Amino acid sequence: MKIFIEKNYTDLSKRVADIIESEMKEKSNLVLGLATGSTPVGTYEELIKRYKEEGLDFSKITTFNLDEYLGIPHDHVNSYHYFMEENFFKSINIDNDKINIPNGNPENVEEYCKAYDKKIENQGGIDIQILGIGENGHIAFNEPDDKLYLGTHVTDLTESTIKANSRFFDSIDDVPKKAITMGLGSIMKSKKILLLASGKNKANTIKKLLKDGVVSTHNPASLLLLHPDVTIILDEEAAEEYMK
Ligand code: F6R
Repeated sequence: MKIFIEKNYTDLSKRVADIIESEMKEKSNLVLGLATGSTPVGTYEELIKRYKEEGLDFSKITTFNLDEYLGIPHDHVNSYHYFMEENFFKSINIDNDKINIPNGNPENVEEYCKAYDKKIENQGGIDIQILGIGENGHIAFNEPDDKLYLGTHVTDLTESTIKANSRFFDSIDDVPKKAITMGLGSIMKSKKILLLASGKNKANTIKKLLKDGVVSTHNPASLLLLHPDVTIILDEEAAEEYMK
């Protein structure tokens, strides 16, 4: 496991973009696993800048997003489809056919979930997966629980996640209560994982992850510690409690 502690969010975003850029230069048809939420936005901005200023080429990459709210239209401003389009895809030269985001309105959800995992597998697996982390240690929408699912599945969001995500909605009642998410097994199959955390509100989460020396389904991010190629990129605020 590698840990980078960057001075601030801007430096964190540049570091993550550097890693992705070098992987893209090694493999032009990279399979990139993407996350939503606030944390990767700076990375997407940095990658967009490199596309515009240096011609970083996204035309051959394939992307798979981690998750989507269930039952939300894809053109809804809070859907993850909308988020990805606005924050990344509309500003780079990606081929729309190579973008994969879980469908929030599938006809047969169980079959759809299996097909999503199969599509990742058929693509040769994810080369590099970007992850944020919830304050409660969730990864994608794999929430702390007695058991965690391996594959893509539908899940209930916890109260703490609903509360955290309500910042993007008019009211907490508008936050969807269910989501479709890649499972920990699908995520762990990625060849390389980048876990990003920024800001004071993640300081205790990171301390728990890196100092407790415990792997538990009640702290889903802790399973990543078993992955052979995980890089954790923090800013100083997120690293503060861990460094004490
Ligand atoms: C988003 C996702 C979530 C976020 C997490 C942190 O696709 O899967 O697990 O990564 O909730 O969110 P932010 O970055 O907003 O703190």
